[in-house]
Amino acid sequence: MNYSKFNKVEAIPEAASMIETFRAIGYSLETAIADIIDNSISANAKNIHINRLWRGGKSVITIKDDGDGMNGNELIQAMRPGTQNPLSDRSENDLGRFGLGLKTASFSQCRKLSVLSKRKGYIPVFWAWDLDYVAKSKRWELIQWMPEEFLNELDNMQSGTLVVWTDLDRILPLQTAETDENAKRKFSASLDKVKNHIAMTFHRFIEEKAIKIFWNEHEIEAWNPFCTNENKTQIRETEYINGGAIMKGYVLPHKNNFSTEQAYKKAEGINGYPAMQGFYVYRGKRLLLAGDWLGLFRKEEHYKLVRIQIDLPNKLDTVWQIDIKKSKAYPPIVCREQLGSYAKRVRNIGSEVYRHRGKILKQRAGEDFQPLWLEKKKDNKWSFVVNRKHLIIQDLKSLAKEKPEQAIEKLLNFLEETIPTKTIYINEAQGEETQTPPFSNVDPNLIKDVLVLMYNNQIAQGKTPAQAKALLKTQEPFNNYEGLIEEL
Ligand SMILES: Nc1ncnc2c1ncn2[C@@H]1O[C@H](COP(=O)(O)OP(=O)(O)OP(=O)(O)O)[C@@H](O)[C@H]1O
Ligand SMILES: [Mg+2]
Repeated sequence: MNYSKFNKVEAIPEAASMIETFRAIGYSLETAIADIIDNSISANAKNIHINRLWRGGKSVITIKDDGDGMNGNELIQAMRPGTQNPLSDRSENDLGRFGLGLKTASFSQCRKLSVLSKRKGYIPVFWAWDLDYVAKSKRWELIQWMPEEFLNELDNMQSGTLVVWTDLDRILPLQTAETDENAKRKFSASLDKVKNHIAMTFHRFIEEKAIKIFWNEHEIEAWNPFCTNENKTQIRETEYINGGAIMKGYVLPHKNNFSTEQAYKKAEGINGYPAMQGFYVYRGKRLLLAGDWLGLFRKEEHYKLVRIQIDLPNKLDTVWQIDIKKSKAYPPIVCREQLGSYAKRVRNIGSEVYRHRGKILKQRAGEDFQPLWLEKKKDNKWSFVVNRKHLIIQDLKSLAKEKPEQAIEKLLNFLEETIPTKTIYINEAQGEETQTPPFSNVDPNLIKDVLVLMYNNQIAQGKTPAQAKALLKTQEPFNNYEGLIEEL
């Protein structure tokens, strides 16, 4: 277009309403704090301290790092919404993209964001965004303010940055009294969730000892979704995805095969096993998305041990539609089929591990493994039969010659304890095939023979034919065969 021939007029965003709009991007407390930590990591911080000070409605959250810090000009630039064009290239280790995170993450939780920063060789500088001031002045103006108690925080450090959130109106009402124990408990609970989120989101940095993150001065331990230090975790082959992403599947061990019960419990993660299955999308080493099938599959109980790592370099941000909060990603259409077929393979292994109580059938095949129940498939219909070749059946048969009652009781016990409920559940849930109706695979005379046996026994015990027939009609599955009973 030839722009020179058009009239022009400036349409500057109205500061007060625009900045309120930033609050509505949809961060949670944990994604907001993670976004601030991203900045610290990008600035080469080694130690990051998150602190919360309970003071009722005047509570404070601070995030301090010992990274490169900023000088006066750099800090003002950093405070500008949209400091950097999202389209510009970023260094490989830069976790930022939009030039917004510091502001949008902070405003999603608080009305006052103040930042103190010190670059090596400079004196500390500070600036603040105060939403109340912007509402009043209607100007995009920073104020040079920082709560006094923090002004000297960086004096003993070569460089670093301190982010301070006050007036946390999205976390608790500003008029909350410091003595309000209920509010205090809620405040603590929401922050505990943050701690777990951080342990997961930044686990690779923590594991590699690239950074330490402290939570009220306690060091946060990494939470690794893939349980790589469990012996029985199955690690699948690496696969390269179009455009430079990498995928690697993990199947966690069955509950019985975890080293300890504690390890099994810990591995379930923030939302529990069923919710934590799926892809784990990393951007650099930073986890964006934890446990999500990216619209390719539903979450189902029997895939709960399957977790697949996807590593994205930040040059793929646009293609994968990374969002401002760094909590969403959408695989491009060209990759979806590949993701789906890889995931299907890992999911199959996961469902085997889940249903065989940790035993892997394929490994057993060579040893002529004898399950007590055999799954049969015919014409897309499935059923289970008791494996007559199983040793226990042979042995109980010989026991039955001497102690028939004991033998029957033992057999019933074993059958009760080993009903393959999980596989039945999975077959039903997959819904691709249907269950064979009862008695469709047995000799039609079986029901009749047993009915005659039972009927004769009742008569021998003194019942009238009518009484015996009435009784048989109450016994499953003979209640379904009234016609046969009447013929007796
Ligand atoms: N803790 C920090 N230490 C040093 N520099 C920082 C720090 N936090 C922010 N900055 C500077 O401020 C800039 C703006 O940060 P902001 O989080 O708003 O955007 P971004 O990180 O560039 O992109 P994104 O919106 O994706 O987070 C950063 O690019 C960085 O230069
Ligand atoms: Mg950022």
